[in-house]
Amino acid sequence: MEKYHKSTVYDRCKMNGSSPDILKPDLYKKYPNSDKVPLPKPKSTNPVLLDDALRKRRSFREYLQKSIDLDTLSYLLWATSGINKLIQSSWGEIGLRTAPSAGACYPIETYIIVNKLKNQIGVKGLDMGVYHYDVEYHQLEVVIPGDFREPLMKACLEQHYCGTAPVVFIFTAIFNRTKYKYEDRGYRYIFLDAGHQVQNLALAITGLHLGGVPIGAFYDDEMNSIIAVDGIFESTIYVYPIGCIK
Ligand SMILES: Cc1cc2nc3c(=O)[nH]c(=O)nc-3n(C[C@H](O)[C@H](O)[C@H](O)COP(=O)(O)O)c2cc1C
Repeated sequence: MEKYHKSTVYDRCKMNGSSPDILKPDLYKKYPNSDKVPLPKPKSTNPVLLDDALRKRRSFREYLQKSIDLDTLSYLLWATSGINKLIQSSWGEIGLRTAPSAGACYPIETYIIVNKLKNQIGVKGLDMGVYHYDVEYHQLEVVIPGDFREPLMKACLEQHYCGTAPVVFIFTAIFNRTKYKYEDRGYRYIFLDAGHQVQNLALAITGLHLGGVPIGAFYDDEMNSIIAVDGIFESTIYVYPIGCIK
């Protein structure tokens, strides 16, 4: 770790300005052949003061057997990863987002896994399965339908709340998006970016009287295979189960 840190410091005498030998990656990941699920326009169903959310935010690991609705999911996806302003840049039009990103590279992709509760599906109107959040069009793309409760729990070192939550957010990084601009130093920025997004999620769920917990303990390869990413150019970096709480 010390070696990595030292080798990626900015130094007045030695600044590396060149771009690495990689193609500029697309800003938006797409699943062109997937079924799409349009999401309702994001609006908070229960606005609270930021100060209240800051005072109440906590990690919750037990959830009620109660599903969440699509309006709520839509708002949480937008609050975490969504676009809040369109601007013209030298690369064309880009959507700035609710969370900052070093160099506006936006390396983080958001997936959700919809679980089954005792008598209902975790998100009203959706089937069980893995979905990708299409940031550009604020819609979900079906990646793999099915029941992932067991493999998800196992991949997260048996943390049962990954299987009992109605919905689990999974954040990946597409490393080249940031590496393209910042080379190896970009690795630092990717996790800072993810932290901003996940804090948005933490505050947004607190505001909606939901609970969740950030999870950094998981078997990387198992998580990557659940959501079907390669683990090399794109890899899981954070998991966040969410549910209704008492
Ligand atoms: C990067 C990171 C990774 C974490 N990983 C886990 C985890 O794998 N399992 C878990 O139960 N909690 C995990 N947590 C939650 C912490 O245990 C929790 O934030 C901490 O105990 C403080 O409690 P609070 O969030 O309620 O304030 C993680 C938190 C962070 C920031």
